[in-house]
Amino acid sequence: MISTNQRFYGEVVEGLSATPKYLQSKYFYDKNGDDLFQRIMRCPEYYLTRCEEEIFSLQSHDIAGSVKSYLKDFEVIGLGAGDGSKSAYLLKEFLNQKLADTYYPVDISANIIQLLEENIPKDIVGLKVKGFHGEYIEMLRNIRQFSNKRKIIFFLGSNVGNYRPDQAIRFCCEMHECMNAGDLLLIGFDLKKNPQVILDAYSDKQGLTKDFNLNLLTRINRELGGNFKLGNFDHYAMYDPVSGACKSFLVSLKNQQVKMGSDFSADFSPNEIIQMEISQKYSIEAIDVLAERSGFKVLGKFYDSKKWFTDCLWQKV
Ligand SMILES: C[S@@+](CC[C@H](N)C(=O)[O-])C[C@H]1O[C@@H](n2cnc3c(N)ncnc32)[C@H](O)[C@@H]1O
Repeated sequence: MISTNQRFYGEVVEGLSATPKYLQSKYFYDKNGDDLFQRIMRCPEYYLTRCEEEIFSLQSHDIAGSVKSYLKDFEVIGLGAGDGSKSAYLLKEFLNQKLADTYYPVDISANIIQLLEENIPKDIVGLKVKGFHGEYIEMLRNIRQFSNKRKIIFFLGSNVGNYRPDQAIRFCCEMHECMNAGDLLLIGFDLKKNPQVILDAYSDKQGLTKDFNLNLLTRINRELGGNFKLGNFDHYAMYDPVSGACKSFLVSLKNQQVKMGSDFSADFSPNEIIQMEISQKYSIEAIDVLAERSGFKVLGKFYDSKKWFTDCLWQKV
């Protein structure tokens, strides 16, 4: 079996050898990346967290009511759980209504899993928490072997937007394969809206998104023996309102060679980009097509008051 570090190294080499160059955004989340993302969630331009938090703070009772009509005694999986602050509203509701008393957060960040295992049982007394550190689908398979109870998966925060639409279909099909018929999925989507509002969320004035992107270069330097000079790269975000793709790039400011250990180097010309992250925005029609193509039945949709974000309840049929 290959180690996490070998996989990280292999995928960075693959991305920096491609044309155009890319790095996978799942590697943003080391301890510093987690902290930066939590600061992004609180920054004025990043509306996504506030919208989804409004949904959970005001509608958890209604969401639990819908869930209850399909599942009565179940366990909760938090896929890409992050700080878990929004999930906590619904987890409390499930516990109070005696619907679920077990939560399995899944995250690629070991730091996040450790924090959740420490903090959630203090915040939600009576909830059993067992974290799974690793990648989404591998961990869903592990959880399936670990417990065969009915499940609801939370896939919140528009994490699905980190896949291109064609990849999102494949990913939802893979999730579907890891579920039993009748299991539920609560999945968050950021909706298409005024393009400037979207672009501002990914190019905040404090420069947190820039730091978040550059932090991956720092991580490569530290963990893989890289020698990226952060001052030689700038951050650039763009949003295409037709496709709904919001993309983040790092831009090389000069001719430079970057080494990683003694065996790998990548040459950059001035203005050459590294593709860092996609955050896909959806129309309601596109969400319904995604559900249908990946084998889910749409049971309900919950919106914030501006209708900028939706959490959808799907069922595996
Ligand atoms: C954008 S944050 C959102 C967190 C949370 N869902 C929320 O709404 O606040 C994405 C989270 O997913 C995790 N993540 C990203 N890619 C992952 C992958 N391939 N497998 C497991 N976790 C992943 C990250 O570590 C991070 O905690």
